[in-house]
Amino acid sequence: MFNAESLVDTQIRKIKEKVTGKAIIACSGGVDSVVSAVIASKAIGDRLLAVYVNTGLMRKGETEEVRGMLGSMNVNFKILDADNIFFEGLKGITDPEAKRKIIGEKFIRCFEKEAKEFGAKYLVQGTIAPDWIESGEGGRDVVKSHHNVGGIPKEMDLELVEPLRDLYKDEVRQVARFLGIEVSERQPFPGPGLSVRCLGEVTPENIAIVREACHIVEDEIQKASADGKMELPWQYFAALLPIRSVGVRDGKRVYGMTVVVRAVLSKDGMTAKCAHIPFSVLESVSARIAGEMGDKVNRVVYDITNKPPATIEWE
Ligand code: XMP
Repeated sequence: MFNAESLVDTQIRKIKEKVTGKAIIACSGGVDSVVSAVIASKAIGDRLLAVYVNTGLMRKGETEEVRGMLGSMNVNFKILDADNIFFEGLKGITDPEAKRKIIGEKFIRCFEKEAKEFGAKYLVQGTIAPDWIESGEGGRDVVKSHHNVGGIPKEMDLELVEPLRDLYKDEVRQVARFLGIEVSERQPFPGPGLSVRCLGEVTPENIAIVREACHIVEDEIQKASADGKMELPWQYFAALLPIRSVGVRDGKRVYGMTVVVRAVLSKDGMTAKCAHIPFSVLESVSARIAGEMGDKVNRVVYDITNKPPATIEWE
């Protein structure tokens, strides 16, 4: 049986032993990184700096939410605006693994710079078990290089500390509840952000489309769940496909892109089942996405595959 209290006590003790000077923590505001930040801050207090990188690949309103949350958490923190660096690095790149490697590298360079200024020698990360399992550690095949594992460059100046490395998502949530962290039930969001939901080239324009589409999916599904029409799936979002198709709007031909809506039920992200969303909810999602994007998106589809054979994200 997993015991959240004992995990917290053990990790506080291990961090106290290992981290002799200062550390920074890569904090995205998701449950994994916030739980790691709280544990690390209990261990080393003011010697920890939480760094949130605004990559330009975050969800709608996310940076402001994270600013508010870190501000209320009694942890040293800094918000770094680095969207130009990420968009520049991703220019012309369409291969999913190449995107992930570039993003991992940019993240690490940002953290190295911040660590130098703060005088830190350690980087705390909220890596959890599926991240390194799917990144091919332990002799397994690479499914995808999670940005906080396979995306890390070989030469890095910082020593890694990963207090949640052996945990699955449901266990991290138990730890979050034990620590009284309010984001404990927040849906997972990948480290490389919206870039893995933007198939093909990642441009600020395409990211703006997928950001709005993800917002609409979240909004409609959360409303439907609050109205008792459905239970909240484990994860629900949209991805933008670089597939154009012919449509018609106001009697005129349009040739727009496709948005795919994805919602899954899962326990730990290692396997997943496509969620049975009421058709009326899917219709509202589709009407809003196709209606609010001008001529850019003229087709919305629902992904009905399980994991395996698909993965949850499209890249
Ligand atoms: P996949 O797409 O591999 O995703 O079925 C399993 C779960 O992991 C999330 N995910 C990531 N999380 N860094 C993360 O921290 C990543 O690089 C990453 N890629 C996928 C995904 O959203 C799902 O919850």
